[in-house]
Amino acid sequence: MKFKTIAWEKDEIVLIDQTKLPARVEYVHCTTVKQLWQAIHDLKVRGAPAIGAAAALGMVLGVNKKKEKNFLELKKNINRLFKYIASSRPTAVNLVWALGRMRNVAIINSGKPVVTIKKLMLKEAKDIIGEDKASCCQMADNAQVLIKKNDCIMTYCNAGMLATVGCGTALGVIYRANELGKNVKVYSCETRPLLQGARLTCWELTEKRVDVTLICDNMAGYLMQQKSIDKIFVGADRIAANGDAANKIGSYSLAVLARFHKIPFYVVAPYSTFDLKMRSGDEIPIEERSAREVRDSWYKCSMVDKRVKIYNPAFDVIPSSLISAIVTDACLIKPPYIKNIKK
Ligand code: MRU
Repeated sequence: MKFKTIAWEKDEIVLIDQTKLPARVEYVHCTTVKQLWQAIHDLKVRGAPAIGAAAALGMVLGVNKKKEKNFLELKKNINRLFKYIASSRPTAVNLVWALGRMRNVAIINSGKPVVTIKKLMLKEAKDIIGEDKASCCQMADNAQVLIKKNDCIMTYCNAGMLATVGCGTALGVIYRANELGKNVKVYSCETRPLLQGARLTCWELTEKRVDVTLICDNMAGYLMQQKSIDKIFVGADRIAANGDAANKIGSYSLAVLARFHKIPFYVVAPYSTFDLKMRSGDEIPIEERSAREVRDSWYKCSMVDKRVKIYNPAFDVIPSSLISAIVTDACLIKPPYIKNIKK
């Protein structure tokens, strides 16, 4: 399968448009920061590591548009861009993490000419992309001790190639298992309301010839009860110092079901997804999205009367007590999480 989630081409950000998949493979070309902001906000590019990489390139786009005379003017522009791009989505910490790295490069090199600093910022954005690719490979390797031949794995949302610039987090683990001949099968939950599991995960897995079965979200418990699931792997958008992990809304319910049925529940995420300033998941900001996504997506006409109130939180928090292990690019982290994450 040949596609690029994010690329920097001829001074533009090129993104595969994830809102069009799987029906059409189309690319969005962002030439302004506003277009990039909109692409992140509208989920044309999505998934924690991918929006981090997109944000870093967005910063490059923004500084390239201006002709600052000195470092102070550049710094002012960078601070403005930081605030603006960070406002596109609040939950995945990779976004502000990448913006912070971009700002730091400028500050560390403040004595150099503005043009040189801008070149160093582009290099930093490319490094973020390169590091993400490498960390996906590392997570895929580190998880293999958890996977046996013929395992049947449940996953949620999309934590694959589309959500990163590498092979993915949770899905990267599955790709590597099958490269090693483990013949892993996957159940993908559709992931209401935006169907990242159905549209994106099933597309990716099918293209990569992985045996995948789609289920509606409310079928997960039945499958666990039938003993059809050996383990669950999901990604994360932000992990607090105590191991609580925010991920796509519905992840918490799966983790509760998994505990009841004694099924191991694993979170796969790179170091850029950890936010040690947050003591627990209670402090993680949860994005609330438009009612239209629940009411109007995928139907010719609204599926419910417009007078009905709709609540649409985009993420929930999996308490660390329900997580069997966190697979990172550095190592496998097991409980007690406060101690072992710090280590
Ligand atoms: O709203 P989305 O589609 O950006 O949500 C994405 C997720 O929740 C993913 O599971 C998470 O970012 C991990 S991706 C490697």
